[in-house]
Amino acid sequence: MRTPERLGFDTAPKAQPTGSADLAENASPLAGSALCVIGGGFVGLVSAAGFADFGHSVICVENNPSRLEKLKSGKIPFYERDLDELIARNVKRDRLSFCAELKLSIKGAKAIFITVGTPSGKDGRTDLSALDKVIQSLADNLEPNQVVVIKSTAPVGTARKVKEKIALLRNSSDAISVISNPEFLREGTAVYDFFHPQRIVIGGDNQEATELISNIHRLGMKQNTPIVVTNNETAEMIKYASNVFLATKIGFVNELAELCDKIGVNALEVARGMGLDPRIGSDFLDPGPGWGGSCLPKDLSEYIGLAHAHDASVTIARAVREANLLQRNYVVSKARDILGDLENKRIGALGLTFKAETSDLRNSPAIDIIRGLQREGATILAHDPVANGDASQLLENVELCDSAEGVAKDADLLIILTEWKQFQLLDWKKIGDIMKSRYVLDTRNLISPEFLRGNGFTYVGTGVS
Ligand SMILES: NC(=O)c1ccc[n+]([C@@H]2O[C@H](COP(=O)([O-])OP(=O)(O)OC[C@H]3O[C@@H](n4cnc5c(N)ncnc54)[C@H](O)[C@@H]3O)[C@@H](O)[C@H]2O)c1
Repeated sequence: MRTPERLGFDTAPKAQPTGSADLAENASPLAGSALCVIGGGFVGLVSAAGFADFGHSVICVENNPSRLEKLKSGKIPFYERDLDELIARNVKRDRLSFCAELKLSIKGAKAIFITVGTPSGKDGRTDLSALDKVIQSLADNLEPNQVVVIKSTAPVGTARKVKEKIALLRNSSDAISVISNPEFLREGTAVYDFFHPQRIVIGGDNQEATELISNIHRLGMKQNTPIVVTNNETAEMIKYASNVFLATKIGFVNELAELCDKIGVNALEVARGMGLDPRIGSDFLDPGPGWGGSCLPKDLSEYIGLAHAHDASVTIARAVREANLLQRNYVVSKARDILGDLENKRIGALGLTFKAETSDLRNSPAIDIIRGLQREGATILAHDPVANGDASQLLENVELCDSAEGVAKDADLLIILTEWKQFQLLDWKKIGDIMKSRYVLDTRNLISPEFLRGNGFTYVGTGVS
């Protein structure tokens, strides 16, 4: 039996290292299983490298030639904290490799994890074309007893349809098991999350297959990690319900922050007081410019579309989506309140990604807010520690600067849009000296108001007066 050299890759936050005693108990005949992961994006790369770190032998299939080329030459196509080290370590151990050839890669694999993108289609429902293509290429080449695992976020009913499609394409009665195994990792802390999941959700109707997938995960995780085994539809819905709930929580605290802004109450203290109640919980109670990223917007949209198709009202989910769009306008209105009129004002934007520690710009509130400021006549300079290059494809008439100082020079206002820690460490005295006026609008409540005010700035936070 192959024994993993190092299990439970710990990266900040380092709160719960995986216990080695637990891991010894977890050792199973599955150590060293051959696995295939199809799709080398955020979820695919973290999962492939994570499973390899558990001791499995993993091939990751990526069909984008430039992405594959990068991976093969040891480069990661995007920034995700600690992922480069995790991949390099497992490539070096010969446990992880990258390939374009699906047929070869699935040969002998016990389980095939599909992690391709499932974006919103034009109608707001999920575009499953990438998943469909994988199934088309996969079906004929599957070996009996191989288990297909849908890790991509896929609408309720997808696994059942995939199973039917595979049976049809194979023209065979030997049923291939299809498992729904939604992923809950968060970009920015994805590597940590992979090794320290709050729960693993496994949906399927074949006990042998659900056990196999449980054991593949269990090999590298703490013994007490909850594993929810259920049917496919419930597993699929758990993912959507979780994301809609999280979006609702953020939407609530953003609304609360606006009210607190207007009546002069500190929303952060209110949120702390609320969050101490375990029925509420303190996570996701940080007011900001609104949620974004690749998941919450499209998952909320699918949930609303599903409800519409089944004549369910989902009033809360609709309101949450609308409130989130209004939050971006609220930020623009605060800039207007500070400067009076935005016409010809020079505004420096700090941060462009939808959150810190990732290079992902998908549905980033920062991009919408910058466009909103531009519509009111402002001139924008922007800086992001990792995403300037990608942002140049998205933003028009924005000067992208290599440094925060470049953005601050002669600015009428600095607006903090992403909670990058680097911005806390800036030489704010120097920043103030090169700005035209010392105004800071901190949409993430990243910098201490007392500190900035002590350095002569006018500071406006979110829900913090
Ligand atoms: N990004 C997240 O934070 C996150 C978190 C949880 C769940 N999810 C879900 O996981 C899924 C993947 O998300 P992502 O952000 O990793 O997407 P992504 O777009 O970053 O990655 C998808 C990858 O799959 C590749 N691909 C597409 N078709 C392929 C094929 N036929 N063969 C091989 N490779 C193929 C693409 O080239 C791309 O590299 C989505 O369903 C998403 O909703 C994402």
